[in-house]
Amino acid sequence: MTTSFVLFILLHLCSVQLTVVAMPTCQMLGKVAENALHLLRDLAGPFPIECLQYNANISFPDTAVPESRSSDDQCHQALWALFESLRGAELIFQEYDLPVGTTWDKKKLDNFLNLQNRLVKAGSCLSSVNDSSAISSYFTNVTAVIEDQDSASCGWMAMRRDLLRVMKSTLQRHETCFSWRQVRHLG
Ligand SMILES: *[C@@H]1O[C@H](CO)[C@@H](O)[C@H](O)[C@H]1NC(C)=O
Ligand SMILES: *[C@@H]1O[C@H](CO)[C@@H](O)[C@H](O)[C@H]1NC(C)=O
Ligand SMILES: *[C@@H]1O[C@H](CO)[C@@H](O)[C@H](O)[C@H]1NC(C)=O
Repeated sequence: MTTSFVLFILLHLCSVQLTVVAMPTCQMLGKVAENALHLLRDLAGPFPIECLQYNANISFPDTAVPESRSSDDQCHQALWALFESLRGAELIFQEYDLPVGTTWDKKKLDNFLNLQNRLVKAGSCLSSVNDSSAISSYFTNVTAVIEDQDSASCGWMAMRRDLLRVMKSTLQRHETCFSWRQVRHLG
């Protein structure tokens, strides 16, 4: 780890603290989510056909993200689904290494993980939505596929695909639920 990287992390942590203190309500920054989405999209190729066989094991509960925004409750539900998904993915990134031979772009991945962490921190003030067991069972399945050496790389690609979908649908359908003020340090 270089000194500047450590400094970056420290600055980053401080800015998260300041952000939390300064925010009157629980907010997710749209720009951070958008940049995280672009990094995750660009860090690897398309979903491999040979991984389709694991769709039976790994299928994201799409109903976790409400179809449209008609109430504050749906905003809350959408942001909560995004938060739960990013937090579940973050735990997997912390717990497991990508399989040997994975060609994900290291720099984009590091930047993505920084933004993911920032979003998870920001979302941790959301009060829980009672119907979140579907997402935890999703991550239980992802973990099983990632733990199995034969299917590990498909498990990672499936998680990336689903994370992209959650981020995209939350940003598209629930754009107004995010805060769009200017942010720095986007990584
Ligand atoms: C969530 O909580 C509300 C009120 O506490 C309840 O009416 C509803 O059935 C719950 N939904 C689920 C999916 O558990
Ligand atoms: C988890 O896996 C089981 C069996 O492999 C499957 O029936 C279930 O639908 C999966 N659940 C999710 C959320 O992927
Ligand atoms: C996928 O699900 C099938 C059926 O439930 C199960 O037999 C298999 O072990 C699962 N594969 C992995 C890698 O978890």
